Amino acid sequence: MRFLSIETSCDETSLAVFEGKKMLSHLVASQAELHAKTGGVVPEVASRAHLEIIFPLLNETLSRAHTKLNELEAIAVTAGPGLLGALLVGVEVARTLGSVLEIPVYPINHMEGHLLANFANKEWPLPALALVVSGGHSMLVLMRGHGKYKIIGETVDDAAGEAFDKVAKLLGLGYPGGPAISRAAEDGDPKRFTFPRGMIASKNYNFSFSGLKTAVLYATAEMELTSEPNLVNDFAASFQEAVIDVLVSKTSRAIDEFYPKTLMLGGGVAANNLLRERITALAHEKKLKLSIPDFTLCTDNAAMIGLAAYYKIEEGVRPKKVFDATSSWALA
Ligand code: KG4
Ligand code: ZN
Repeated sequence: MRFLSIETSCDETSLAVFEGKKMLSHLVASQAELHAKTGGVVPEVASRAHLEIIFPLLNETLSRAHTKLNELEAIAVTAGPGLLGALLVGVEVARTLGSVLEIPVYPINHMEGHLLANFANKEWPLPALALVVSGGHSMLVLMRGHGKYKIIGETVDDAAGEAFDKVAKLLGLGYPGGPAISRAAEDGDPKRFTFPRGMIASKNYNFSFSGLKTAVLYATAEMELTSEPNLVNDFAASFQEAVIDVLVSKTSRAIDEFYPKTLMLGGGVAANNLLRERITALAHEKKLKLSIPDFTLCTDNAAMIGLAAYYKIEEGVRPKKVFDATSSWALA
């Protein structure tokens, strides 16, 4: 079946054309430069930018897949969670095309997309334990099968990516914060500051990053950031170390309780090199299979939305006749 997938939940407009599981074309238009001017995503600006680019991007994505609009047999679209105004752009384009072309539209959960990015090139032994960490969510998911997910832990306040973005702003590193912090951290000393590891000793698998962010705020308020050439790098490295310490420690404990066969990463923060290294070491230590998506499939993209749709179509899941874009949509 040939189908189109659409992702517009935050600040990337992305489309892909699939034939079954094979991806024929995939384009991502990032709004990062636009939002760098304001130091973060302004929702209305994001929606307008999606509107401006989505049809030219649709034409280019179809053309690269040598596919005409009327050859599409289904459409998959991120329906949540995300910024409502941004989601609405993708959902309305999908609904309109679906109605005009008389083809089904599959609403896809953005976090399921991040998780299923792991299946781009191969299948994995299940159950799998997945650490899915993005700008809006941080969760540990136990995956027993496609569509069979259990969230065993999630953030009680800020998501991991959100903490990266906020701390980057404090350090004057700009937007998006994750890549900026990890770059700065390469030249920094991760042991210079000991920041709190929120909830690291708690018996559950939940995360908390707002205390860490506040600790960085207080520490930076006491020092002139320009007083030493390497100070910002040391802050970045010490902060990054604290986030990753908590993520990896909780993941390690969850492995001991749930005995997964495969360990997976997903979401924008999974593009972080140090997190990738530490999760790789953990998988080796626990003798698990390991899946880490390519960098381009960690941050928001339509490929992962197409993959999630592919498994639904395979399993005969009926597309919903009526659905809405929704800013909060629990994965399980
Ligand atoms: O999944 P994503 O693209 O969008 C959401 O669903 O939120 O994740 C974006 C988040 C941002 O907070 C960004 O700072 C973070 O992922 N991020 C990173 C890195 N690259 C992106 N965080 C840490 N290190 C990175 N290299
Ligand atoms: Zn995302």
